[in-house]
Amino acid sequence: MQVAIDGPAAAGKSTVARLVAEKLGGIYINTGDMYRALTWIALQRGGDPETAPERVAAMLDNLRLDYRLADGAAPVLALDGHPLEPAAVRSPAVAAKVSFTARIPPVRDWLVERQRRAGQLGLVVMEGRDIGTVVFPGAKYKFFIEASPMVRARRRLAQPGEVVDSATLESVAAEIARRDELDRNRRISPLRPAADAEVIDTDHLTAAEVADLIVERVYVGESQCPSHTRHI
Ligand code: DC
Repeated sequence: MQVAIDGPAAAGKSTVARLVAEKLGGIYINTGDMYRALTWIALQRGGDPETAPERVAAMLDNLRLDYRLADGAAPVLALDGHPLEPAAVRSPAVAAKVSFTARIPPVRDWLVERQRRAGQLGLVVMEGRDIGTVVFPGAKYKFFIEASPMVRARRRLAQPGEVVDSATLESVAAEIARRDELDRNRRISPLRPAADAEVIDTDHLTAAEVADLIVERVYVGESQCPSHTRHI
């Protein structure tokens, strides 16, 4: 069973999705980290996703992406057997290029295939941009988390582990707006809510409140569907 959580950058998806996974006893999967990991490794190998997308695509043939199920709700992502360093995938250099990686069609195909496989691991709470529209269009539970750019900039700056270079609220808001623009207007799998997703405006809600709302929807949905209740 999959719970799909989509939405723009820094809306609070990760915190919410992690909480939902914990509360439901499911596995939390952050697909943005997959796009970031590929961006990081492409930059390491001299393939700039903006100027040399074909080099990034060519890299995929010899690359392995694994999820190791460790203790706790979140599996550890590893590329070619090396666990990813959070500081590397969240660096400004990766943030500046990741939207270009996410526009490369073979990259999306390669990752969607692996995301679908990961979705079979059990009760999976997967967050991203296209989980409800492309990865799991048949998912029973789909949510799209919205928040205004300034609220999102505040949340990003408050995020532990976020690496920012002398960032101000305005510069972070501008970076978020730039990335939204790229994500919403790309030709394949643009950022948008699935027709059957519940859109949640989170400007005035805490992450815990959003998570409770989602968990409530799942409980209500599953109580009407007894064959699934053993999962939660
Ligand atoms: O969630 P995030 O900010 O870590 O995502 C990084 C980038 O990856 C973002 O620019 C959009 C892209 N992305 C995507 O296109 N599809 C996904 N399912 C997840 C992320």
